[in-house]
Amino acid sequence: MKKFKLPALPYAYDALEPHISERTLRIHHDKHHKGYVDNANKILNRMSGDKSLLKSFSYNAAGQLLHSLFWTNMSPNGGGKPKGKLLKAISDDFGSYEAFKQEFSNAAKSVEGSGWAALTYSQDADGVVLIQIEKHNVNIVPSYELLLVIDVWEHAYYLDYQNNRGAFVEAFWEVVNWDEVSKRFNSVK
Ligand SMILES: [Fe+2]
Repeated sequence: MKKFKLPALPYAYDALEPHISERTLRIHHDKHHKGYVDNANKILNRMSGDKSLLKSFSYNAAGQLLHSLFWTNMSPNGGGKPKGKLLKAISDDFGSYEAFKQEFSNAAKSVEGSGWAALTYSQDADGVVLIQIEKHNVNIVPSYELLLVIDVWEHAYYLDYQNNRGAFVEAFWEVVNWDEVSKRFNSVK
């Protein structure tokens, strides 16, 4: 039987403090992410072309995938800037790292309702491209490889920053795990 699994966080629940609190990570990982995994598993094993189930499957399975990536995109030793080939690709496609950071932040802050901003790699365009995902699965471009994602659902930041999504997005840069993002980039490039 096919089964999605909830991955363990790659660090302690309090490891990203003060940027993201232990309480937020516990609820986000143990309740929200687990919920997507459980629902995806429930649906996966009784889908039979039912349109509403297929839609729900996409929502939950994409939630599982995005959250799994989000946890590894962060690290208590994160922050700083990308290096090497990834920095070159970002500089080539956005003008500079600073310009990329601004554009990514704007994309994250301006997601309507619940969603994500993502840096992706497009084979087609042979470059890095920003996308803005609504919910977990709307506006995804098939085959674009996800490199770096930020969850801007309120559950990701409300306890720590209340309705100030911008403050959460700024704090996110302090914990970005660029080594992991580079690894992903080098494996798909
Ligand atoms: Fe989330």
